[in-house]
Amino acid sequence: MFLFGEHAVVYGKPGIAMAIRPRVYVTVRRAKRPHAVSSPYIRNCFTDMGVSGSVYINSQIPSSSGLGSSAAVTVATLSAINDEFQLEKTREEIADMAFAIEKKVQKGRASPTDTTVSSYGGIVLITGTSRRRLPPVNLHIVIGDTLVSHSTSQMVEQVSELKKRHPDIVGHLLDAIEGVSLNAIHHLNNPKELGRYMDMNHAILDALGVGHPALSRLVLAARSAGAFGAKLTGAGGGGCMVAVCPKNQKHRVAKAIESYNCRAIMTGIDTEGARKEKNA
Ligand code: MEV
Repeated sequence: MFLFGEHAVVYGKPGIAMAIRPRVYVTVRRAKRPHAVSSPYIRNCFTDMGVSGSVYINSQIPSSSGLGSSAAVTVATLSAINDEFQLEKTREEIADMAFAIEKKVQKGRASPTDTTVSSYGGIVLITGTSRRRLPPVNLHIVIGDTLVSHSTSQMVEQVSELKKRHPDIVGHLLDAIEGVSLNAIHHLNNPKELGRYMDMNHAILDALGVGHPALSRLVLAARSAGAFGAKLTGAGGGGCMVAVCPKNQKHRVAKAIESYNCRAIMTGIDTEGARKEKNA
């Protein structure tokens, strides 16, 4: 899930993402004949790993929410294939393959942010092709899902169109997001300060045209209910927002989100990333 820098990351600016606890469980079994799979992400996982098998997915992450569910499913499927077929791929190779699959399915429009963070866990900083793990911090997070569907590639396209029409303005907005992200890195263990940067990042994303009334409502509701800060997360235009809260205000913030008939998820960091659960 993006903490800072969505959209700007598509233009080589830094992106900061955090692995959160709603998880995706994938079970893979060997099978002689390939099973028909409707998801292009999963089909590509088997093709790229050069094996065929059956797959069972249990996802706790709402799909198309902007929380990086396609990245999480792709990384988990590749990891499960890796274990089942003893292919000995490293975490880094899996992250790279997952990114290549996302990019292919999303027709070139993807940054490696969500696939990297799903693979490694914790907090990661992505800039261009470089990725760096940042020290994990225990933030109290509430996610609000507007339940408004959106398309990541459409939102990315929209920003690109705006950039063509107003190159100077959009250039400055992307630079401003970069400034927020680079400052936020130094305050990851100060949730109050981090909240201020989240508010700034949200305002710039609004200016880029990727906001939505439902996102604005939840962001304002979360702040009024005591959150340190709140912003949309992911592509915008619907999907999810994220709030960083004082521990004792988590429930209040979640209730405020639910009062708009939206889904609230109280969560925190996942530090382990993709992993084998058990030998079933
Ligand atoms: C979508 O979750 C985030 C974007 O920055 C696209 C990407 O990074 O792949 C809009």
